[in-house]
Amino acid sequence: MKPGPGSVSVIGMGYVGLCTSAAFASKGIKTVGIDIDEKRIEQIRQGRAPLYEPQLDSMLKKAVKKRLLTATNDISQAAYTSSTFLTVGTPSRKDGSIDLTSIERAAEELGTALSEKQSYHLVIVKSTVIPGTTNRIVNPILAKSSSKTIGTNLGLCANPEFLKEGTAINDTLHPDKIVIGANDKKSANTLKQLYMRFYGKNLPTVILTSPETAELVKYASNAFLATKVSFINTIANIAQSIPGVDVNQIVEAIGRDPRIGPLFLKAGPGYGGSCFHKDLQAIINFSENLGYSPLLLRATEGTNEQQAEKVVELVEKLTGPLEQKRIAVLGLAFKKDTDDIREAASLRVINLLMKKKGPIIVAYDPLAVPNARRLLTESVEFAQDERSALKGADCCIVMTEWNQFKKLRAKDYLALMRTPNLVDARRLYDPKEYESLNFAGVGIGPQE
Ligand code: UGA
Repeated sequence: MKPGPGSVSVIGMGYVGLCTSAAFASKGIKTVGIDIDEKRIEQIRQGRAPLYEPQLDSMLKKAVKKRLLTATNDISQAAYTSSTFLTVGTPSRKDGSIDLTSIERAAEELGTALSEKQSYHLVIVKSTVIPGTTNRIVNPILAKSSSKTIGTNLGLCANPEFLKEGTAINDTLHPDKIVIGANDKKSANTLKQLYMRFYGKNLPTVILTSPETAELVKYASNAFLATKVSFINTIANIAQSIPGVDVNQIVEAIGRDPRIGPLFLKAGPGYGGSCFHKDLQAIINFSENLGYSPLLLRATEGTNEQQAEKVVELVEKLTGPLEQKRIAVLGLAFKKDTDDIREAASLRVINLLMKKKGPIIVAYDPLAVPNARRLLTESVEFAQDERSALKGADCCIVMTEWNQFKKLRAKDYLALMRTPNLVDARRLYDPKEYESLNFAGVGIGPQE
């Protein structure tokens, strides 16, 4: 069955592509998911999400059952839809710049597929790409392989995505804005109309820009958020040396100033995930190639790297020399509600601990252990649950803010651990309730 006019295709079934596809289908818009990974396509066809994301599985199941979402590895199927989103990955290269191989290949194959098409087709670059990619790379590749002139019967837009892992579906259904970067009115209007169909009267503010501005909006957004995290971690590190000071109270106070706001100011072990580090490195590299060195963004990254050392310092302060000490690491995922460990602070902390003389590391995460096993050496033990991880431990570090870890009380730590040293790198607990333990938290000054 051909999807027909008004339908959508999405090339690249990663986080963004899958969530976008499931969301379009959930609004009754026929969607074709396209990926070169046959195994992934098969899973989607069976209505199973190939990655963990709350709500995604049930949404996919419904969409596939209603035949609103189909999946294929045949890119030529995109020609039977009206618009195609490019959501392929743009991984980092060694120098921090992004590898555009997948987007170039997708653009070329899509152009070829569209070459015989008579009616208008819109191509939307949703992957995170450095400014200029849509106009200078995707545009000429598409134009050549389709033998069409972009802006006539083939439209092109840049349309960055702002969803967060763990809340991706909700973020897709309720974004705070939509940014459309286009060179011509028809491309911009066609995409806006598609979003009007999607959101109905709840259409968020649509900001129309050039493709380059849209591309830079994405980097500005992630760079700002990462900078907020590094900023508050800097304040936390200062607070940590002042008796009686708690960074969380500082945030409670400064967050009330509307010019500052309370969000993304949670001090912790440093940011992780597939986006912040990668995007910061890409925009730093891009900017330096333009002849401008963005010092602030370098400091954001440097502060983040250093934050893992701060966590290890807290461990050593409580525990002393780590030789033969059993260290329980609760949480490996880069944040709760995901199995993703890419760039996770837990990995930086574990790697630092392993460089020390002789600690025994036992780690637990509700979802991320299979992914962690692939990355960490055999010298890390994995526990079945949080309680087994704590058994006989000399120190526990809470690295991810999983809800189930919040349920552990001081008495549980006291009963299970050999020495109840607790480093709360996520500030999960109220220090007052844990006074019976040797407790240290990021951004809490020494108690007098
Ligand atoms: C991030 C952005 O928040 C999204 O808007 C963006 O679309 C996405 O990158 C992307 O470019 O695809 P994500 O990486 O899923 O989303 O995760 P975040 O919720 O932003 O968290 C990133 C890291 O910062 C996590 O390790 C988190 O624990 C940490 N963080 C966040 C803090 O340490 N403190 C905070 O206050 C907030």
